[in-house]
Amino acid sequence: MRHFLTLADYSKEEILEILDLAKQIKTETKNKEFKDYMPKQTLGMIFEKSSTRTRVSFETGIYQLGGVGLFLSSSDIQLGRGEPLSDTSRVISRMVDMVMIRTFGHEKIEEFAKYSKVPVINGLTTEYHPVQLMADYLTIQEAGLDKDLVVAYIGDGNNMAHSWLNMAAKLGFELRIATPKGYEVNADILAKALEMAKESGAKITISNDPKAAVQGTTVVTTDTWVSMGQEDEKEQRLKDFDGYIVDAKMMSLAQEKAIFLHCLPAYRGYEVSEDVLEGSQSLIFDEAENRLHAQKGVMVWLDRQRNA
Ligand code: CP
Ligand code: NVA
Repeated sequence: MRHFLTLADYSKEEILEILDLAKQIKTETKNKEFKDYMPKQTLGMIFEKSSTRTRVSFETGIYQLGGVGLFLSSSDIQLGRGEPLSDTSRVISRMVDMVMIRTFGHEKIEEFAKYSKVPVINGLTTEYHPVQLMADYLTIQEAGLDKDLVVAYIGDGNNMAHSWLNMAAKLGFELRIATPKGYEVNADILAKALEMAKESGAKITISNDPKAAVQGTTVVTTDTWVSMGQEDEKEQRLKDFDGYIVDAKMMSLAQEKAIFLHCLPAYRGYEVSEDVLEGSQSLIFDEAENRLHAQKGVMVWLDRQRNA
């Protein structure tokens, strides 16, 4: 039985297989063909943090696959009052068929998965956001930019940056990450990505120079400077990220055909300007919609693995 905790656990072939499945199911969905890939299955969805896209994509996704989603906010279940994760996992995984969790430290999802009888999907941890990257790469493929792909990630060395690192390292594309000093990506995650990159041929560079990073790229992406759980650091962060906004001037350094991606929610005037977010190069709403299709691909793939 496989879990979906980080992209580092997946091979290039598996990632592309899941994306092909997502594309197939997307086409079927667009044609109003709703096939029961997961009839009568229940997806438990545990949220320790807020969510719009992740909740809606998984809940709608499992319903369209013939199952049902169970929204479990940690403030409403006993987990929020201190029931151990190991007990929560053993109880919930005896009743549902798959679990998606959004939580804080990655070790929490690893602990949950260790005790779970069913596949566990990472719906965001402080360190990673792999299901978002599946939607992002699907959007890149649909835009026809997956060949000779060069991605610039500008901003915080956070869960999105780490998942971009893993995706580049696995699929073998060029990724340039530019963060302010003190907000670099995690050194261990970077070291592992560089190791994996040796096999895939990925070119990964890290700097504190956003303009140089964006130069000649085909995808420009960023994320909030203040992630969930960092609200107390907001004032300091806004000062430290000065110069890292992706605005029209920054975007003009990329190739003409370049697209702009953002996992959302976006904070206009901070990590991205209004004109870039709403501009013709921005594919943010296709990207958001692709959460639904990509998440279905992940769920169906995991279900098939279990039954193989
Ligand atoms: N991008 C993303 O995961 O959005 P939500 O926080 O709304 O789920
Ligand atoms: N880095 C952000 C992503 C939100 C989808 C956070 O963790 O809050």
